[in-house]
Order: sequence, then structure tokens, then C-alpha cells
Amino acid sequence: MEKIIEDYLVEEGIIEQTTNEIFQTISSENPEIQGALASYFDNWYDLSIEERYNQMAQKINGIYLYDMFKSKNKKGLSKILEKIINEKYVDYGDYVLDIGCATGLESVLFSKIIEEKGFVSGIDVSPKMIQAAKERSSKKNIENIEFLINDMNNYHNSRNYDSIICLNDVLTEGFDFYSEDNNNEGLIKKTFKNFKAILNPDGKIFLSLSYENSQNKIKSILFSCAKSAGFKNIEHEKISYRDSDNIRKTILCVGLRD
Ligand SMILES: C[S@@+](CC[C@H](N)C(=O)[O-])C[C@H]1O[C@@H](n2cnc3c(N)ncnc32)[C@H](O)[C@@H]1O
Repeated sequence: MEKIIEDYLVEEGIIEQTTNEIFQTISSENPEIQGALASYFDNWYDLSIEERYNQMAQKINGIYLYDMFKSKNKKGLSKILEKIINEKYVDYGDYVLDIGCATGLESVLFSKIIEEKGFVSGIDVSPKMIQAAKERSSKKNIENIEFLINDMNNYHNSRNYDSIICLNDVLTEGFDFYSEDNNNEGLIKKTFKNFKAILNPDGKIFLSLSYENSQNKIKSILFSCAKSAGFKNIEHEKISYRDSDNIRKTILCVGLRD
């Protein structure tokens, strides 16, 4: 499985790079964008989620800007994908909902794992990300996949799923865990109940959050809302790695089942 994941990431242009190398690539291709990017990152938290990610969906040197920054955390990404597939959070024949799918990098990998018997729906609030994800999957002629502009807190579809995947701090944004005095428990409970309602019996959820965003209070809010929505089995594991800048990162992975 490790080799399949590695080959896929390389094919999609995800090669391990330091922040400096990423900025060098960006500025050598588009010198004028460097200043624009710096002020964009400075204003990140003042932008709406759509604005944040619409910009990250642009292509530079044939690679989506968002994916370039994933190169920095390629080791962590590979470890999480291995866990998802080895522990069968995504398995042959599954119907999978990838929430906050961004450029569809993981959704397309999942479509290879589930093969033609299964189906992937990728949703995101950013229209430009959905456009990028559609472009990625249509280039590969994948048929058992759809990408929809949609908010995870109001998601409805006629399909039911075997698996819901929500990677890399989508919940931090979707539930606004960035604000210190988060008081969104009502919304979180409602969203988890909706997740439970669209899952088939024996369905499972896999979530990942950066650990600094998921310590103590956030972790306990998430777990208690998941329990109140009917998920009795909560498995969690911290995955640590050093990113390409040699900075230690920890990601909290959470699995929810009946
Ligand atoms: C940090 S990125 C994670 C993307 C991808 N899952 C990954 O692992 O790289 C967050 C993504 O979630 C999307 N997002 C944020 N809030 C959302 C919501 N309420 N509903 C759907 N998507 C959302 C953003 O537009 C963005 O593309």
C-alpha cells in the first residue's frame, strides 16, 4: 500500500519540499505573485473560508498552490493515508464522502481503492477548489466520482455512505475551532447527527486535526458530540512526524463507529 500511495502522490506532483523551495518555485514561475501571496497569508484569518481556498486553487507551474504546500507535510499525509486504507476506513466497494475535499487529491486516491463498485462524493465550500477537483478527476477519466459545492453543516444528498472522511483541519474551520471561546456545540451535535443519518449501518468516520488545534477542550467537545450522535466506538491516535522544514508536527486521528 505504501508504494501505491507514494507513486500516486509523485504522479500528482506532491514531492517533499521545504517552505523555501516551494516559495522559490512559485516566484521563479510568477515573480509578481510572491508579494501578493505574502499579504494573502498575512490576512488569512480576515478572509472568508471561500476566499481563503479559492486563491489556493490556482495553478502555478501545473500544480495547484494548495497541493504545493501539502508537499511540506508529505510524510504526515502518507502516514494518514496508510492508516485510512490499512484500517479499512476506505475499502473496496465503499461509498465514500470526502468532506472539505479541496483539490480532490485524496478523493481520487480513494476512487482507486474502492474501484468501480464504489463511489466517491467530494464536497467543499470553495467553488474554485471544486473546479480544481473536477479537473483532476476528469483528466484521469474517473467515472465513479462527483464533486459538489456544499457546506458540511448542511449536507444533503440522496446517497448514503459507508465512510465519511474529513482530513486536515476541515472541522477546525467548519466548526470554527480557531476562536478561543468556541460555543458551537449545538451546530457540532447537529452536524454529527446528520453524518450518522447519511451513513449506512456499520458506517465509519475518519477525522484528522492538527494536534495544537485539537487539544483538551476541542477534543472533549468533539468526542461528546460524536457520542451524543450515536457513535459508541471512538478510536484515537496521535501521529507525529517531522515536516520537510524539520519541524515536529502532531496530528490527531479520530475514528468513529457504531
Ligand atoms: C485545510 S483544507 C483541507 C483539505 C483536504 N481535506 C486535505 O486534507 O488537504 C480545508 C478545506 O475544507 C474546506 N471547508 C472549510 N469549511 C468547510 C465546510 N463547512 N464545508 C465544506 N468544506 C469546508 C475548505 O474550503 C478547504 O478546501
